[in-house]
Amino acid sequence: MAKINLNYRKLSAGYLFPEIARRTNSFIEQNPGTEVIRLGIGNTTEPLTSYVLEGLHKGVDLLSNVATYTGYGDGQGRLKLRELLVDLYAEYGVAIDTSEIFVSDGAKPDAGNIQSIFGIENEIAVQDPAYPVYVDTNVIAGRTGAFNPELGLYEGITYMPCTEENHFFPAPPDKKVDLIYLCNPNNPTGLTATKDQIKIFIDYARAHKSIIIYDAAYAAFIKDSDLPRSVYEIEGADKCCIEINSLSKSAGFTGVRLGWAIVPKNLVAEDTTPGEINKLWNRRQCTFFNGASNIIQQGGIYALSPQGLKESAEMVNYYMENATIIREALIQLGMTVFGGDNSPYIWLKIPNQMDSWEFFNKLLKETRVLGTPGSGFGPSGQGYFRLSAFGHREDVKTAIERIKRNLDI
Ligand code: MLT
Repeated sequence: MAKINLNYRKLSAGYLFPEIARRTNSFIEQNPGTEVIRLGIGNTTEPLTSYVLEGLHKGVDLLSNVATYTGYGDGQGRLKLRELLVDLYAEYGVAIDTSEIFVSDGAKPDAGNIQSIFGIENEIAVQDPAYPVYVDTNVIAGRTGAFNPELGLYEGITYMPCTEENHFFPAPPDKKVDLIYLCNPNNPTGLTATKDQIKIFIDYARAHKSIIIYDAAYAAFIKDSDLPRSVYEIEGADKCCIEINSLSKSAGFTGVRLGWAIVPKNLVAEDTTPGEINKLWNRRQCTFFNGASNIIQQGGIYALSPQGLKESAEMVNYYMENATIIREALIQLGMTVFGGDNSPYIWLKIPNQMDSWEFFNKLLKETRVLGTPGSGFGPSGQGYFRLSAFGHREDVKTAIERIKRNLDI
Protein backbone atom coordinates (compact mmCIF):
# COMPACT_ATOMS: atom_id res chain seq x y z
CA MET A 1 0.00 0.00 0.00
CA ALA A 2 1.35 3.44 -0.88
CA LYS A 3 1.98 5.61 2.12
CA ILE A 4 2.17 9.38 2.23
CA ASN A 5 4.91 11.37 3.92
CA LEU A 6 3.25 11.64 7.32
CA ASN A 7 5.34 14.68 8.20
CA TYR A 8 2.88 16.72 6.11
CA ARG A 9 0.27 15.99 8.77
CA LYS A 10 2.44 17.76 11.32
CA LEU A 11 2.16 21.08 9.48
CA SER A 12 0.20 23.39 11.73
CA ALA A 13 -2.05 25.05 9.17
CA GLY A 14 -2.20 25.92 5.49
CA TYR A 15 0.87 27.72 4.14
CA LEU A 16 0.55 31.30 5.41
CA PHE A 17 -0.08 33.21 2.19
CA PRO A 18 -2.71 30.88 0.66
CA GLU A 19 -4.40 30.94 4.08
CA ILE A 20 -4.53 34.75 3.95
CA ALA A 21 -5.86 34.59 0.37
CA ARG A 22 -8.54 32.11 1.51
CA ARG A 23 -9.69 34.38 4.34
CA THR A 24 -9.64 37.43 2.06
CA ASN A 25 -11.67 35.69 -0.66
CA SER A 26 -14.23 34.65 1.91
CA PHE A 27 -14.43 38.28 3.14
CA ILE A 28 -14.96 39.49 -0.45
CA GLU A 29 -17.66 36.85 -1.01
CA GLN A 30 -19.47 38.10 2.08
CA ASN A 31 -18.98 41.73 1.03
CA PRO A 32 -19.51 41.78 -2.73
CA GLY A 33 -18.06 44.73 -4.62
CA THR A 34 -15.40 45.33 -1.97
CA GLU A 35 -12.08 46.56 -3.30
CA VAL A 36 -9.35 45.21 -1.08
CA ILE A 37 -5.89 46.81 -1.19
CA ARG A 38 -3.30 44.08 -0.81
CA LEU A 39 -0.29 44.95 1.29
CA GLY A 40 -0.01 41.38 2.52
CA ILE A 41 2.30 39.11 0.57
CA GLY A 42 5.40 40.85 -0.75
CA ASN A 43 4.28 40.63 -4.33
CA THR A 44 5.77 43.03 -6.85
CA THR A 45 3.35 45.19 -8.82
CA GLU A 46 5.40 47.36 -11.19
CA PRO A 47 6.12 46.22 -14.75
CA LEU A 48 9.49 44.86 -15.79
CA THR A 49 11.93 47.55 -16.85
CA SER A 50 12.51 48.19 -20.55
CA TYR A 51 16.01 46.72 -20.58
CA VAL A 52 14.88 43.49 -18.91
CA LEU A 53 12.08 43.24 -21.47
CA GLU A 54 14.65 43.64 -24.23
CA GLY A 55 16.60 40.73 -22.69
CA LEU A 56 13.51 38.53 -22.47
CA HIS A 57 12.60 39.27 -26.08
CA LYS A 58 16.14 38.46 -27.08
CA GLY A 59 15.84 35.16 -25.19
CA VAL A 60 12.81 34.27 -27.30
CA ASP A 61 14.51 35.38 -30.53
CA LEU A 62 17.54 33.21 -29.81
CA LEU A 63 15.24 30.19 -29.64
CA SER A 64 13.65 31.02 -32.98
CA ASN A 65 16.82 30.53 -34.99
CA VAL A 66 18.54 27.23 -35.69
CA ALA A 67 21.96 28.83 -35.29
CA THR A 68 21.24 30.21 -31.81
CA TYR A 69 18.68 27.72 -30.49
CA THR A 70 19.57 26.01 -27.19
CA GLY A 71 17.89 23.17 -25.34
CA TYR A 72 19.14 22.03 -21.97
CA GLY A 73 21.79 24.42 -20.75
CA ASP A 74 24.46 24.38 -18.10
CA GLY A 75 22.63 23.11 -15.01
CA GLN A 76 24.45 25.62 -12.85
CA GLY A 77 23.22 28.50 -14.99
CA ARG A 78 24.56 30.42 -17.98
CA LEU A 79 28.21 31.35 -17.47
CA LYS A 80 27.55 34.96 -18.52
CA LEU A 81 24.88 35.27 -15.85
CA ARG A 82 27.20 33.87 -13.19
CA GLU A 83 29.98 36.20 -14.33
CA LEU A 84 27.67 39.17 -13.89
CA LEU A 85 26.85 37.93 -10.39
CA VAL A 86 30.59 37.74 -9.67
CA ASP A 87 30.81 41.41 -10.75
CA LEU A 88 27.86 42.33 -8.55
CA TYR A 89 29.47 40.75 -5.49
CA ALA A 90 32.80 42.40 -6.37
CA GLU A 91 31.03 45.72 -5.86
CA TYR A 92 30.33 44.65 -2.28
CA GLY A 93 34.02 43.80 -1.93
CA VAL A 94 33.30 40.08 -2.10
CA ALA A 95 35.26 37.64 -4.27
CA ILE A 96 33.32 34.58 -5.38
CA ASP A 97 33.96 32.19 -8.22
CA THR A 98 31.44 31.29 -10.92
CA SER A 99 31.72 27.64 -9.81
CA GLU A 100 30.29 28.65 -6.42
CA ILE A 101 27.09 30.11 -7.93
CA PHE A 102 24.03 28.01 -8.73
CA VAL A 103 21.32 29.76 -10.73
CA SER A 104 17.80 28.63 -9.90
CA ASP A 105 14.15 29.51 -10.32
CA GLY A 106 14.11 31.61 -7.16
CA ALA A 107 15.17 32.07 -3.57
CA LYS A 108 12.13 30.26 -2.16
CA PRO A 109 12.89 26.92 -3.86
CA ASP A 110 16.53 27.21 -2.81
CA ALA A 111 15.62 28.11 0.77
CA GLY A 112 13.31 25.11 0.84
CA ASN A 113 15.55 22.60 -0.94
CA ILE A 114 18.90 23.38 0.63
CA GLN A 115 18.09 21.42 3.80
CA SER A 116 17.94 18.23 1.71
CA ILE A 117 21.73 18.02 1.43
CA PHE A 118 22.04 17.89 5.21
CA GLY A 119 21.44 14.89 7.44
CA ILE A 120 18.09 14.40 9.07
CA GLU A 121 19.69 14.47 12.52
CA ASN A 122 20.78 18.10 12.14
CA GLU A 123 19.20 20.43 14.65
CA ILE A 124 17.94 23.64 13.12
CA ALA A 125 17.54 27.12 14.55
CA VAL A 126 15.37 29.88 13.13
CA GLN A 127 14.77 33.49 13.94
CA ASP A 128 11.31 33.84 15.42
CA PRO A 129 9.39 35.30 13.57
CA ALA A 130 10.70 33.83 10.30
CA TYR A 131 9.77 33.31 6.67
CA PRO A 132 7.65 30.12 6.97
CA VAL A 133 9.57 28.16 4.32
CA TYR A 134 12.52 27.52 6.67
CA VAL A 135 10.37 25.80 9.28
CA ASP A 136 7.84 24.07 7.03
CA THR A 137 10.46 22.42 4.80
CA ASN A 138 12.27 21.02 7.82
CA VAL A 139 8.97 19.74 9.19
CA ILE A 140 8.27 18.00 5.88
CA ALA A 141 11.79 16.54 5.85
CA GLY A 142 11.14 15.00 9.27
CA ARG A 143 13.63 17.08 11.20
CA THR A 144 11.09 18.13 13.85
CA GLY A 145 8.61 16.72 16.31
CA ALA A 146 4.96 17.64 16.58
CA PHE A 147 3.49 21.13 16.53
CA ASN A 148 2.58 22.44 19.94
CA PRO A 149 -0.53 24.57 19.30
CA GLU A 150 -0.40 26.22 22.72
CA LEU A 151 3.12 27.50 22.21
CA GLY A 152 2.87 27.82 18.44
CA LEU A 153 6.18 25.91 18.15
CA TYR A 154 7.45 22.67 16.68
CA GLU A 155 9.30 20.35 18.98
CA GLY A 156 12.89 19.91 17.96
CA ILE A 157 13.40 23.37 16.45
CA THR A 158 15.40 26.02 18.27
CA TYR A 159 13.52 29.30 18.00
CA MET A 160 15.55 32.47 18.48
CA PRO A 161 13.05 35.14 19.53
CA CYS A 162 13.38 38.52 17.84
CA THR A 163 11.66 40.99 20.11
CA GLU A 164 11.56 44.68 20.79
CA GLU A 165 13.92 44.06 23.75
CA ASN A 166 16.70 42.63 21.54
CA HIS A 167 15.94 45.08 18.70
CA PHE A 168 14.59 42.15 16.70
CA PHE A 169 17.93 40.43 16.36
CA PRO A 170 18.64 37.39 18.52
CA ALA A 171 21.70 36.11 20.26
CA PRO A 172 22.92 32.74 18.96
CA PRO A 173 21.47 29.73 20.79
CA ASP A 174 23.03 28.88 24.14
CA LYS A 175 23.49 25.29 22.97
CA LYS A 176 24.89 23.68 19.84
CA VAL A 177 22.71 23.72 16.73
CA ASP A 178 23.75 22.59 13.27
CA LEU A 179 21.84 24.64 10.71
CA ILE A 180 20.88 28.25 11.33
CA TYR A 181 18.56 30.25 9.11
CA LEU A 182 19.15 34.00 9.04
CA CYS A 183 17.24 36.41 6.84
CA ASN A 184 18.76 39.85 6.35
CA PRO A 185 17.16 42.36 5.73
CA ASN A 186 14.66 40.44 7.72
CA ASN A 187 11.36 39.15 6.51
CA PRO A 188 9.02 39.79 8.28
CA THR A 189 10.36 42.43 10.72
CA GLY A 190 11.93 44.66 8.07
CA LEU A 191 14.94 45.19 10.35
CA THR A 192 18.48 44.90 8.97
CA ALA A 193 21.30 43.44 11.04
CA THR A 194 24.72 45.06 11.13
CA LYS A 195 27.97 43.36 10.21
CA ASP A 196 28.84 43.09 13.91
CA GLN A 197 25.56 41.34 14.68
CA ILE A 198 26.06 38.84 11.85
CA LYS A 199 29.70 38.33 12.85
CA ILE A 200 28.55 36.97 16.22
CA PHE A 201 26.65 34.24 14.36
CA ILE A 202 29.62 33.52 12.10
CA ASP A 203 31.85 33.11 15.15
CA TYR A 204 29.24 30.83 16.71
CA ALA A 205 28.94 28.78 13.52
CA ARG A 206 32.68 28.37 13.22
CA ALA A 207 33.06 27.40 16.85
CA HIS A 208 30.29 24.77 16.58
CA LYS A 209 30.89 23.70 12.95
CA SER A 210 27.37 24.85 12.14
CA ILE A 211 26.17 26.16 8.79
CA ILE A 212 24.23 29.36 8.30
CA ILE A 213 21.68 29.53 5.52
CA TYR A 214 21.61 33.24 4.81
CA ASP A 215 18.62 34.57 2.90
CA ALA A 216 19.56 37.90 1.33
CA ALA A 217 16.47 38.21 -0.88
CA TYR A 218 15.92 41.84 0.21
CA ALA A 219 19.57 42.98 0.10
CA ALA A 220 18.92 45.33 -2.83
CA PHE A 221 16.66 47.41 -0.56
CA ILE A 222 19.50 48.37 1.79
CA LYS A 223 20.20 52.10 1.55
CA ASP A 224 22.64 52.43 4.43
CA SER A 225 26.09 51.68 3.00
CA ASP A 226 27.41 50.33 6.33
CA LEU A 227 24.94 47.43 6.31
CA PRO A 228 25.97 44.14 4.65
CA ARG A 229 24.44 43.32 1.25
CA SER A 230 26.07 39.92 1.34
CA VAL A 231 27.09 37.75 4.26
CA TYR A 232 30.47 37.27 2.59
CA GLU A 233 31.31 40.88 3.41
CA ILE A 234 31.95 39.50 6.88
CA GLU A 235 35.15 37.66 7.62
CA GLY A 236 34.87 33.89 7.92
CA ALA A 237 31.46 33.66 6.22
CA ASP A 238 32.84 31.65 3.28
CA LYS A 239 33.64 28.83 5.70
CA CYS A 240 30.16 28.54 7.22
CA CYS A 241 27.50 30.31 5.12
CA ILE A 242 25.35 29.52 2.12
CA GLU A 243 23.76 32.64 0.67
CA ILE A 244 20.50 32.72 -1.25
CA ASN A 245 19.18 35.62 -3.30
CA SER A 246 17.01 36.36 -6.31
CA LEU A 247 15.81 38.97 -8.75
CA SER A 248 12.23 38.60 -7.51
CA LYS A 249 11.93 41.72 -5.43
CA SER A 250 14.69 43.89 -6.90
CA ALA A 251 13.84 43.43 -10.60
CA GLY A 252 10.19 42.37 -10.43
CA PHE A 253 10.88 38.67 -11.11
CA THR A 254 8.35 37.29 -8.57
CA GLY A 255 6.44 35.65 -11.41
CA VAL A 256 9.33 35.46 -13.89
CA ARG A 257 11.46 33.40 -11.44
CA LEU A 258 15.25 33.63 -11.23
CA GLY A 259 17.45 33.23 -8.19
CA TRP A 260 20.81 31.90 -7.10
CA ALA A 261 22.54 30.15 -4.25
CA ILE A 262 26.19 30.60 -3.38
CA VAL A 263 27.83 27.52 -1.96
CA PRO A 264 31.48 28.43 -1.31
CA LYS A 265 34.21 25.90 -1.90
CA ASN A 266 35.59 26.75 1.55
CA LEU A 267 32.37 25.69 3.26
CA VAL A 268 32.73 22.69 5.53
CA ALA A 269 30.47 20.56 7.69
CA GLU A 270 31.33 17.62 9.92
CA ASP A 271 33.68 15.21 8.16
CA THR A 272 33.57 17.02 4.82
CA THR A 273 36.45 18.31 2.77
CA PRO A 274 36.39 21.80 1.22
CA GLY A 275 34.40 21.69 -2.01
CA GLU A 276 32.31 18.68 -1.03
CA ILE A 277 29.17 20.62 -0.03
CA ASN A 278 29.41 22.62 -3.26
CA LYS A 279 29.45 19.28 -5.13
CA LEU A 280 26.54 17.95 -3.11
CA TRP A 281 24.36 20.92 -4.03
CA ASN A 282 25.42 20.50 -7.65
CA ARG A 283 24.43 16.82 -7.45
CA ARG A 284 21.11 17.68 -5.88
CA GLN A 285 20.30 20.33 -8.49
CA CYS A 286 21.36 18.11 -11.41
CA THR A 287 19.08 15.36 -10.13
CA PHE A 288 15.98 17.40 -9.31
CA PHE A 289 16.25 20.44 -11.56
CA ASN A 290 17.16 21.10 -15.18
CA GLY A 291 18.23 24.68 -14.81
CA ALA A 292 16.33 27.94 -15.03
CA SER A 293 14.54 28.73 -18.28
CA ASN A 294 16.93 29.95 -20.96
CA ILE A 295 14.60 32.83 -21.85
CA ILE A 296 14.48 33.98 -18.24
CA GLN A 297 18.25 33.68 -17.86
CA GLN A 298 18.63 35.99 -20.83
CA GLY A 299 16.35 38.45 -19.03
CA GLY A 300 18.53 37.98 -15.94
CA ILE A 301 21.68 38.78 -17.92
CA TYR A 302 20.10 42.06 -18.95
CA ALA A 303 18.84 42.73 -15.42
CA LEU A 304 22.36 42.29 -14.03
CA SER A 305 24.08 44.43 -16.65
CA PRO A 306 24.87 48.05 -15.68
CA GLN A 307 21.77 49.40 -17.47
CA GLY A 308 19.55 46.72 -15.91
CA LEU A 309 20.89 47.37 -12.44
CA LYS A 310 20.30 51.10 -12.86
CA GLU A 311 16.67 50.52 -13.86
CA SER A 312 16.14 48.02 -11.01
CA ALA A 313 17.52 50.55 -8.53
CA GLU A 314 14.80 52.97 -9.68
CA MET A 315 12.17 50.30 -9.10
CA VAL A 316 13.57 49.57 -5.65
CA ASN A 317 13.43 53.31 -4.86
CA TYR A 318 9.81 53.41 -5.91
CA TYR A 319 8.90 50.66 -3.43
CA MET A 320 11.05 52.27 -0.77
CA GLU A 321 9.15 55.53 -1.22
CA ASN A 322 6.00 53.51 -0.59
CA ALA A 323 7.63 52.17 2.57
CA THR A 324 8.35 55.72 3.73
CA ILE A 325 4.75 56.78 3.05
CA ILE A 326 3.37 53.85 5.06
CA ARG A 327 5.89 54.20 7.88
CA GLU A 328 5.40 57.94 8.33
CA ALA A 329 1.62 57.75 8.22
CA LEU A 330 1.53 55.06 10.89
CA ILE A 331 3.93 57.03 13.08
CA GLN A 332 1.68 60.09 12.67
CA LEU A 333 -1.20 57.97 13.90
CA GLY A 334 0.82 57.33 17.04
CA MET A 335 1.67 53.73 16.18
CA THR A 336 4.96 52.04 16.95
CA VAL A 337 6.60 50.79 13.77
CA PHE A 338 9.87 49.11 12.86
CA GLY A 339 11.64 48.42 9.59
CA GLY A 340 10.73 50.00 6.27
CA ASP A 341 13.97 52.01 6.03
CA ASN A 342 16.34 49.42 4.56
CA SER A 343 13.70 46.91 3.57
CA PRO A 344 10.25 46.87 1.97
CA TYR A 345 8.46 45.58 5.09
CA ILE A 346 6.97 47.61 7.91
CA TRP A 347 6.53 45.79 11.20
CA LEU A 348 3.75 47.36 13.20
CA LYS A 349 3.19 46.85 16.90
CA ILE A 350 -0.52 46.28 17.21
CA PRO A 351 -2.14 48.69 19.66
CA ASN A 352 -4.37 47.69 22.57
CA GLN A 353 -2.98 44.18 23.11
CA MET A 354 -4.96 42.86 20.16
CA ASP A 355 -3.73 39.62 18.66
CA SER A 356 -2.38 39.45 15.12
CA TRP A 357 -5.30 37.66 13.44
CA GLU A 358 -7.80 39.83 15.32
CA PHE A 359 -6.06 42.91 13.90
CA PHE A 360 -5.97 41.30 10.44
CA ASN A 361 -9.77 40.94 10.58
CA LYS A 362 -10.28 44.43 12.00
CA LEU A 363 -8.07 46.11 9.38
CA LEU A 364 -9.79 44.22 6.59
CA LYS A 365 -13.26 44.99 7.90
CA GLU A 366 -12.74 48.66 8.74
CA THR A 367 -10.36 49.70 5.96
CA ARG A 368 -10.40 46.97 3.30
CA VAL A 369 -6.62 46.84 3.59
CA LEU A 370 -4.86 43.51 3.69
CA GLY A 371 -1.71 42.87 5.68
CA THR A 372 0.00 39.84 7.19
CA PRO A 373 -0.51 38.78 10.80
CA GLY A 374 2.82 38.62 12.62
CA SER A 375 1.88 35.41 14.40
CA GLY A 376 1.83 33.67 11.01
CA PHE A 377 5.63 33.92 11.06
CA GLY A 378 6.09 32.39 14.50
CA PRO A 379 5.04 32.89 18.10
CA SER A 380 7.21 35.98 18.67
CA GLY A 381 5.29 37.66 15.85
CA GLN A 382 2.18 37.63 17.99
CA GLY A 383 0.95 41.18 18.60
CA TYR A 384 2.64 42.44 15.44
CA PHE A 385 1.50 42.99 11.90
CA ARG A 386 3.44 43.26 8.63
CA LEU A 387 2.62 45.71 5.86
CA SER A 388 4.35 45.32 2.54
CA ALA A 389 5.53 48.29 0.47
CA PHE A 390 5.01 46.39 -2.78
CA GLY A 391 2.06 48.12 -4.43
CA HIS A 392 1.06 50.83 -6.84
CA ARG A 393 1.64 54.27 -5.36
CA GLU A 394 -2.04 55.23 -5.70
CA ASP A 395 -3.11 52.07 -3.87
CA VAL A 396 -0.64 52.69 -1.08
CA LYS A 397 -1.92 56.26 -0.70
CA THR A 398 -5.53 55.07 -0.71
CA ALA A 399 -4.71 52.39 1.87
CA ILE A 400 -3.16 55.02 4.12
CA GLU A 401 -6.14 57.36 3.70
CA ARG A 402 -8.51 54.53 4.61
CA ILE A 403 -6.45 53.61 7.66
CA LYS A 404 -6.37 57.25 8.80
CA ARG A 405 -10.09 57.70 8.22
CA ASN A 406 -11.59 54.37 9.22
CA LEU A 407 -9.34 52.41 11.54
CA ASP A 408 -10.80 52.64 15.00
CA ILE A 409 -7.85 52.44 17.40
C1 MLT B 1 6.48 37.35 1.70
O1 MLT B 1 5.49 38.06 1.54
O2 MLT B 1 6.91 37.02 2.80
C2 MLT B 1 7.18 36.89 0.48
O3 MLT B 1 6.84 37.68 -0.58
C3 MLT B 1 6.81 35.54 0.13
C4 MLT B 1 7.77 35.00 -0.85
O4 MLT B 1 8.66 35.69 -1.33
O5 MLT B 1 7.64 33.81 -1.12
